[in-house]
Amino acid sequence: MNTPTTTVHTGRHFLQIPGPTNVPDRVLRAIDMPTIDHRGPEFAGLGLAVIEGAKRVFRTASPVVIYPSSGTGAWEAAIVNTLSPGDRVLMAETGQFATLWRTMAGRLGLEVDFIEGDWRHGADPAAIGARLAEDRGHTIKAVMVVHNETSTGVTSRIPEIRRAIDQASHPALLLVDTISSLGSIDYRHDEWGVDVTVGGSQKGLMLPPGLGFNAVSDKALAAAAANTSRRSYWDWHEIIAANRTGYWPYTPATNLLYGLREAITMLEEEGLEAVFARHDRHAAATRAAVRAWGMEILCADPREYSSALTAVMMPDGHDADQFREAVLARFDMSLGTGLARLKGRVFRIGHLGHFNDLMLMGTLAGVEMGFEVAGVPYREGGVRAAMDVLSGKARP
Ligand SMILES: Cc1ncc(COP(=O)(O)O)c(C=O)c1O
Repeated sequence: MNTPTTTVHTGRHFLQIPGPTNVPDRVLRAIDMPTIDHRGPEFAGLGLAVIEGAKRVFRTASPVVIYPSSGTGAWEAAIVNTLSPGDRVLMAETGQFATLWRTMAGRLGLEVDFIEGDWRHGADPAAIGARLAEDRGHTIKAVMVVHNETSTGVTSRIPEIRRAIDQASHPALLLVDTISSLGSIDYRHDEWGVDVTVGGSQKGLMLPPGLGFNAVSDKALAAAAANTSRRSYWDWHEIIAANRTGYWPYTPATNLLYGLREAITMLEEEGLEAVFARHDRHAAATRAAVRAWGMEILCADPREYSSALTAVMMPDGHDADQFREAVLARFDMSLGTGLARLKGRVFRIGHLGHFNDLMLMGTLAGVEMGFEVAGVPYREGGVRAAMDVLSGKARP
């Protein structure tokens, strides 16, 4: 028997969670191909194309390792290659994903200094710099930061964090999670001096879930070469060696790699700068709508507003999940739930990936109509305010 559903699908579902995001038809068509021999001559062309293309997206000349994994796997890969049980690391509590990464680090035997946060701000470069300056013996082996905290819609300022590490003259590695920023928000692995950048396929890269990425600096590679702690599947060296000729030491996710090749082509046809500008503009229009509705944006520092998603605080006495359920049932649109301590208190509007002005307007109209349906108090005019930002009539 089919499970009954409250939502009737007529037309397209609106998938406006902050990832997985809408997969473009072009990418779906690219994936819809016969799987080929991953050790045969045809595969190498695909392998080399995605390995080189991924470097351009991460903005690095260094290797990018592509795993058949979720983002969580790529988190683990970054840790087990560069760090050993007992190593001390510095992390910042930006929200639920930073907290999950910290939990993983603890399970893998690392000693974590966790700079507490209020889930409304990004990682504080000054606090990181101060902790590193205190660490005269250089016992801290890595600084680990989530670039775009998907649970809160807050983007940490990675170049400032790099500067803080440099000003403290500290040799710690810099590990950055870009799972929900890569391909949506400006990011530069080489220029910003990042040692390991962790990525995932299902957000700005416009692919289904299933690929994890590690972009790896020379310093990180040297740390991995010197690291004798146990690892196998995630080990970079064997993969990088096989990648030189376009292959993997195990069976790669062939059809997702077809999709990745197409997604990189699409990002480059638009141009990465234009992709980032499009995300900035849609985020600004979304914030204009939220303010016009009389609601509060969770991110407390305008320098840290996320261009990938906006987390909106619910008026007191109203449950964000009941509102989301009403929107799904009535308008067939999925909005992001509040995670962990934000459960019921915020909903998240994803405006990243394969997205355009009218998709944004449909999304915001769905939210505004949803307030009415769910009996949430709001001021009219959010959709209008967003349109005015998109048309250039209003300054964001
Ligand atoms: C910032 C961030 N880090 C890590 C993860 C975990 O990735 P995955 O769910 O693909 O394992 C997510 C997933 O949403 C994320 O947004």
